[in-house]
Amino acid sequence: MKKTIDISHEESLHQKQIMEKLSHSIKDKKLKYHVSTFGCQMNAHDSEKLKGILEQIGYIPTEVEKEADFVIYNTCCVRENAEQKVYGRLGSLKNNKKRNPNMLIALCGCMMQQDTVISEIRKTYKHVDILFGTHNLYKLAELIQTRLDTGKMVIDIWENHKEIVEDLPSIRKFSFKSSVNIMFGCNNFCTYCIVPYVRGRERSRKPEDIISEIKELVADGVVEITLLGQNVNSYGKNLDNPITFAKLIQEIEQIEGLERIRFMTSHPKDLSDELIEVIRTSKKLCNHIHLPFQSGSTNLLNKMNRKYTKEQYLELVRKIKEARPDVALTTDIIVGFPGETEEDFLDTVDVVKQVEFDNAFTFIYSIRTGTPAATMEEQVPEEVTKDRFNRLLEVLNEIAYKKSVEKVSGTYDVLVEHVNRQNDNLVSGRLGSNNLVHFEGSKDLIGKIVPVKITSAKSYYLLGEHVTK
Ligand code: 5AD
Ligand code: SF4
Repeated sequence: MKKTIDISHEESLHQKQIMEKLSHSIKDKKLKYHVSTFGCQMNAHDSEKLKGILEQIGYIPTEVEKEADFVIYNTCCVRENAEQKVYGRLGSLKNNKKRNPNMLIALCGCMMQQDTVISEIRKTYKHVDILFGTHNLYKLAELIQTRLDTGKMVIDIWENHKEIVEDLPSIRKFSFKSSVNIMFGCNNFCTYCIVPYVRGRERSRKPEDIISEIKELVADGVVEITLLGQNVNSYGKNLDNPITFAKLIQEIEQIEGLERIRFMTSHPKDLSDELIEVIRTSKKLCNHIHLPFQSGSTNLLNKMNRKYTKEQYLELVRKIKEARPDVALTTDIIVGFPGETEEDFLDTVDVVKQVEFDNAFTFIYSIRTGTPAATMEEQVPEEVTKDRFNRLLEVLNEIAYKKSVEKVSGTYDVLVEHVNRQNDNLVSGRLGSNNLVHFEGSKDLIGKIVPVKITSAKSYYLLGEHVTK
């Protein structure tokens, strides 16, 4: 165990030395960087680490990609359209590079973990300078150094993850809230999903590393954290000293100054009674749980390798609602998984109606080469899938509206996030349930948790007024 800590510590020191060295040549040149993030919250959080490294080296952020001397795309491959977007954008970067020959282009993230993508980029996108994957983003400074030293395209993709490197710089999007990785990778191999192939096996961070990161964040003004993992409910099982996710939350809850705790994503098969008890009793856990069900058909769930039935999912929801009647539930749903019949689809609609989700991410099934579902027979015709998708959205919108309207006249604590983008007399923030609310207020409220009375509701946002309790 000691050895792992030493390697991780040494590696982080090594990277910091490279950052320091690079900063001597970069700082004075006032070079600008731009990071584009595709995909999930995990990627968004990874991008904060990339930004941390780049700013440590001396790059200055710019919102305008065209102005940047260093452009990096942190990619996603969960669905095909995310990949197509990256290829499209890469094509136009070629012109930027013609105008600014010294600019560097780096690609990282999930797409890069696929051999076919690397060959395509080597063949067609020779203007790219650095390629790395999901396991070694902490090495960005070293990869830049190698690119500058050799003048050649640098490709560094790891099949697997070695140790978790702690304590690297990071630039947070918000000063008052932050995501915190508690684990990496996934062991579930849902048959449609590429994530286990590109993010590797499950690895949990040690609780003491997580707690000390959160304490530092709180000391730096953070009041809300989101614990991130592909399947947070199986956190800690493979540690040398195993600990459950429920226990981890209880420990985090002790941190003084921390006001709100969120987590995502939960896999229904691993959400324990112990966690439901913490959901019942916790003072800091927000009343929002993201609980993907993917399909309401037990037959399809089986083919998806989800390891629960429609009835088990509904029972789990019942227990959560009983523990926390004000809970807001959100979910992920896939439409058009191979073999999906009208009856299977109606089971999905039935779950949506029974649970009454506050919000849902709905996806049209996308074939991912290398996953078991890609070669399943009975792929569903596109027009059938689209029709089901639209019908599902209608049901979801209606329910989301109903759930929003139920909040009108109630008063809720809101963490104020930013000045409203359309109207600068308004500020926008989130309830514990994660609903977005806009209300009159000044920018001094940003980062504060204030009571807001809800005055009206739309499907996906609320309007309110700041009140004194
Ligand atoms: N096609 C469509 N949606 C997918 N997801 C994962 N893989 C696929 C795929 N091949 C969805 C799931 C998951 C979310 C992050 O992305 O709903 O929960
Ligand atoms: Fe993909 Fe399933 Fe793992 Fe989620 S739990 S990342 S859907 S394999």
